Amino acid sequence: MTAPEAGNGGPSQAERLAAEIFSVEAGHLLVGGVRLADIAARHGTPLYVYDAAVMRRNHARLARALAGLADIHYSIKANPNPAVVAVFLAEGAGVEIASLGEYRIARAAGAAPGRILFAGPGKRRAELAAVMADGIGEIHLESFEEIARIEALAGGTAVPVAIRVNPVAEVQGGAMRMGGRPAPFGFDEEDLDAVVDRVAASSCLKLTGVHMFAGTQILDADMLAAQWTHGLAVARRVAARIGRPLDTIDLGGGLGIPYFAGEKPLDLDRLASHVPTLKAEQAADPLIRAARIVVEPGRFLVGPAGVYVAGVLAAKRSRGARFLVTDGGMHHHLAASGNLGQVIKRDYPLLAPDRVGAASAGPASVVGPLCTPLDTIARKAELPDLDEGDLVAVLQSGAYGLTASPVHFLGHPAPKEVLVDNGTVRLVGGDT
Ligand SMILES: Cc1ncc(COP(=O)(O)O)c(C=O)c1O
Repeated sequence: MTAPEAGNGGPSQAERLAAEIFSVEAGHLLVGGVRLADIAARHGTPLYVYDAAVMRRNHARLARALAGLADIHYSIKANPNPAVVAVFLAEGAGVEIASLGEYRIARAAGAAPGRILFAGPGKRRAELAAVMADGIGEIHLESFEEIARIEALAGGTAVPVAIRVNPVAEVQGGAMRMGGRPAPFGFDEEDLDAVVDRVAASSCLKLTGVHMFAGTQILDADMLAAQWTHGLAVARRVAARIGRPLDTIDLGGGLGIPYFAGEKPLDLDRLASHVPTLKAEQAADPLIRAARIVVEPGRFLVGPAGVYVAGVLAAKRSRGARFLVTDGGMHHHLAASGNLGQVIKRDYPLLAPDRVGAASAGPASVVGPLCTPLDTIARKAELPDLDEGDLVAVLQSGAYGLTASPVHFLGHPAPKEVLVDNGTVRLVGGDT
């Protein structure tokens, strides 16, 4: 939202985030120390800009909060740009992938096969064969057909697998729930014993772990901790059933970031306050004591690091309403248009990167070039007077941006992607 907080006329959510995540100097937004407008002038709009320092900071903060408890795997689906993946690998993260395409990106960026976990409800034969031939760390089983498919491909060595569990409802939450209700992801917790028995009886599979992913965009640290506590209980149950220790317990991702007015960042100190209890619970059971606990966030690590920048093509009025037509839109940033799973369409944090703090000229709809009313990036943006050639920037755009968008719709060119690192601006994607 760009609207000031009701009643106090203070900075908008976008202005606050701009100052907290990046920096603002004399009304100019700087990303990685470089004026966003200069980057846009050099590379053209529309454009995604990612700040490597913000990614590293988020990784370090989370690693600190979960120290001694969990290992971080970056969920590539959030942003599969190879340069982004490489940043997290260099920080020591493993990765979580959902396709052979993502596997190849991870490998090309330098991930060792053993540091890669493969989840996803529909893994094809060719995908399984390719990752198995390489010695992937673990495949997360999500259906009986998949179990049989892997068995048919397995050679002499047992394939390391985890059972993905769709947990029972009590502790589930998040803006987009993926567990705790009927879902195609993993096996229902209610059916777990039969699944464990099936996998444990297979000579081609080595049951090494369990995996849970309950939902995305969770901003409540206590809810996450409750989910993780439940995850440990499920792991204990599986280990007891097979009568031997587990190697991995993947507690999922889902850590949220603030987008809309009134949303507060996930409280990492509060999350960290749950760590001693979680560690004690793990230590209490010899069958999970030595297991490597994994979290696999995407959005939390990369979302705040990205800005989507579009140029104004026209500033017009229609029957009294203000419209800013830009060269960017839902074909590059479906999530910001509210068409990627948002029930109530609310504006992403958006500002004019060269006029931060300037007075609003009244609420504007910021729209893209597509011939559909769905192509609306903001509905009530409080932006200053902007003209053709001016810029708008959508913050919190590093996750589920470009590759979660219908890029080919209407045949506009793909946006460029730029990585800012230590003052260096590098083109890392898009038409060149
Ligand atoms: C299995 C799995 N792991 C991790 C993630 C990453 O979620 P998030 O970006 O919310 O952390 C997802 C997202 O859908 C997922 O399906």
